Amino acid sequence: VQTVLETPRLILRELVHEDAAPLAGILSDPETMQFYPAPYDRQGVVDWIERNRRRYAEYGVSLWALVLKTSRELIGDCGIIPQHVDGELLYEIGYHLRRDFWHQGLATEAAIACRSWGFAHLPVHRMISLIRPQNVPSRRVAERNGMTIWKEVEWRGLPHCVYSITREHADRLTASPSQGSRASR
Ligand SMILES: CC(C)(COP(=O)(O)OP(=O)(O)OC[C@H]1O[C@@H](n2cnc3c(N)ncnc32)[C@H](O)[C@@H]1OP(=O)(O)O)[C@@H](O)C(=O)NCCC(=O)NCCS
Repeated sequence: VQTVLETPRLILRELVHEDAAPLAGILSDPETMQFYPAPYDRQGVVDWIERNRRRYAEYGVSLWALVLKTSRELIGDCGIIPQHVDGELLYEIGYHLRRDFWHQGLATEAAIACRSWGFAHLPVHRMISLIRPQNVPSRRVAERNGMTIWKEVEWRGLPHCVYSITREHADRLTASPSQGSRASR
């Protein structure tokens, strides 16, 4: 399976149909999916993998599997999803992590890597994250990824914050990481 990128603790690779069982441990967990309309059932997980594989073929990006280097387990997903927001095609950084791996900075590590990868490989001016206002952990990951709230939109029938980072701002963070979120807190 194709590896897309690597961070100190994680490998990001394309999702395959065989990932359905470990993914269900994430996408079918009610607490992990509390900000979604409902957790995915078995068929929902299979369809979700298929949608991601179609986006790899069409756009070259989508959510990728997060594999922990130490154990080789799939513990989540993170990647770049093309989304139509307010009639504009934008590239969103998304992430879901298995609950027993929360609070270790793993989602932040993956999201920052996806941001760098996106600006290096896609001709985009900005990248976004679409987040329900109540989803504090996800908002913290977006902030750690250098993003700020750009606007608020109704998306798939629910209010969402559109977090955003422009290429110029991302370049400045890369050139001078001390300006990054951790140091400026
Ligand atoms: C969002 C998610 C991926 C974050 O994963 P994570 O690896 O635990 O995130 P990090 O360890 O990088 O932590 C990010 C920040 O959020 C904070 N945070 C994490 N969980 C929190 C919680 N339940 N309540 C408040 N803050 C929380 C962390 O403390 C950290 O900030 P801090 O160090 O400044 O305090 C994970 O919570 C998850 O899978 N959530 C469910 C799926 C989801 O909603 N995805 C996003 C859809 S938009």
